[in-house]
Amino acid sequence: MNLPDIKEARKRSKKEVEHIYLDQHYDNSTFKNKKYFLRTYGCQMNVHDSEEIAARLESLGFKETEELDDADIIILNTCAIRENAHDKLYGFLGRCKHAKSIDKNKIIGICGCMAQEEGVVNELMKKHPYVDIVFGTHNIHELQDLILERSKKQNIRVYSCEGDVYENIEYKRDSSVKAWVNIQYGCDKFCTYCIVPYTRGKQRSRKSKEIIKEVKDLVKKGYKEVTLLGQNVNAYGKDLEDELSFAELLQSVADTGIERVRFVTSHPWDFTDDMIDTIAKNDNIMNYIHLPLQSGSDNILKRMGRRYTKKEYLELFNKIKDRIEDVAVTTDIIVGFPNETEEDFNDTLDVVNTCKYDSAFTFIYSPREGTPAAKMEDNIDMKTKEERLQKLNELVNKYSLENNKKLEGKIVKVLVEGTSEKGENKVFGYTETMKLVNVSNAKEDIGKIIDVKITDAKSFSLDGEKCK
Ligand code: 5AD
Ligand code: SF4
Repeated sequence: MNLPDIKEARKRSKKEVEHIYLDQHYDNSTFKNKKYFLRTYGCQMNVHDSEEIAARLESLGFKETEELDDADIIILNTCAIRENAHDKLYGFLGRCKHAKSIDKNKIIGICGCMAQEEGVVNELMKKHPYVDIVFGTHNIHELQDLILERSKKQNIRVYSCEGDVYENIEYKRDSSVKAWVNIQYGCDKFCTYCIVPYTRGKQRSRKSKEIIKEVKDLVKKGYKEVTLLGQNVNAYGKDLEDELSFAELLQSVADTGIERVRFVTSHPWDFTDDMIDTIAKNDNIMNYIHLPLQSGSDNILKRMGRRYTKKEYLELFNKIKDRIEDVAVTTDIIVGFPNETEEDFNDTLDVVNTCKYDSAFTFIYSPREGTPAAKMEDNIDMKTKEERLQKLNELVNKYSLENNKKLEGKIVKVLVEGTSEKGENKVFGYTETMKLVNVSNAKEDIGKIIDVKITDAKSFSLDGEKCK
C-alpha cells in the first residue's frame, strides 16, 4: 500500500484548502442503507465535534448503528490529552481490525486530536494499514469528500495551519434538551504540559453575532440549556477586533431568554470581576464554575506556565464564592508533575482543604511529546504518583459527599434529560449547580425543569423525588 506522508499532508497552506466546502450539498442516497459507527473519546469539544461528524455522515445517507459489526464505516474521534487516551484507542482498534477482516469493504477512519499528532499518525498508518482515512481537528468539514474519494487510496487530511472558523455548521445533536455551542476554537495559553494548543491550534473566537444567532435558533427549537464551549472561554474575543468580552457575550446569551446558560472551561487568569457580576445577576446563568487549579504549589504552577499563584487562585475563588449565591465550584488537578515534592503536593491538598470543591477531575501527569514539560525529567516514580492520586481522590470525594449531603431534604431545580440507568421508573437530570440527580415519579417530565426534593446524597450523584 502506498502510504501518504503526513508531513506532506501538513505542508498544504491555508490558501490551498480555502476552496471548501460548507455550502456543498451531498446526495443522501449515496450510502443509502449503509451504516456508521461513531465512537468519541475525550472532552466536550470532541463530543460536539462528533455531533458535526454524525450530521456529515448522514448527509451522505449513512444511518447510525451501535454495533461495530453492522457498520459500513467506523469513525473513531480520538483524544490526545494523556497517554491512557492513546492506549484506549489502540485497544479498540484491535476490534476494528477484526471487524474489517470479516468485511473488507468497511471503511475505518480516525480523527480528532491524535490525528493532529504527526509522529502518532505516521506510526498509526504504518502499523494499522487497515485504517483508510485520517482527518485532523481542522478538517472535519472535508469528511464527505474524503469518504467519496477514499476508495482510491489510504488518505490523510491533517493541516497544521490554523483551522478556519466556519459558520452554519449542521449538527446531529445528541440531546433535544441541551446543546453545546462553540464560542472559540483552540487555545493560546500553552500550559507547559498540555497538547491542546498543538492539536487544536491557537485561539480563534467565533463572532458574537453568529453565536447569538445559533442560541436564538436553539431557543426557537425548544432547547432549554446551552453550554458555551471553549478551551479558555474567559479569553473569548481577545483575538478579534471590536468584539464583545466574555462577560458581555454571557449577558447577550442570557438575554436570548434561554432557560439555562453554562460555560466551560475557565482559566483563572482571565476571570474578570465583570464575569462574576454577570453570572451573579442573571438567574439563567447557572451558579456553577469549573475552575482548574492544576496544582496548589507556586513552584509547580510556575513550571506549568499557569501564570497565577496559590494566593491569587484563592483570592479569585473566595470572590466567586462571596458574590455568586450558592455557587458550586469544580476543578482539575494534576499530580506527579516533574519535580513535584511532597511539600508541593501538600500545597495542593491544602487548596483542596480550603476550597472544598463540589468535585474534581484528578489526573496523573502524563508527558505529551512536543510540549515543553515533556523535556523536563519525568522524575516522580509511578508508585508515588499513584499514592498521591489516591490520597487526593479520598479528600476530593470526602468534600463532594459533604457538599452533596447539604442538599438532603432540600428542593432543587432539575432539568430532566432522559430515562435513568438507575431503574425503570427513574429519570435523570442536572441541578443548576451541575449535580446529577436520579429522580423518581417524573417520567412525563423529560425536557422540563422541575422541582425535586433530594432524598439521598452520594459522592457522585443525588437521588430525589419530584415535588407534587
Ligand atoms: N497530563 C495529565 N493531565 C493533563 N491535563 C492536560 N494535560 C495533561 C497531561 N499532560 C489535564 C488538565 C486539564 C484537563 C482537561 O486534563 O488538568 O485541565
Ligand atoms: Fe491546555 Fe492550558 Fe489551554 Fe487548558 S488553558 S487547553 S490546560 S494549554
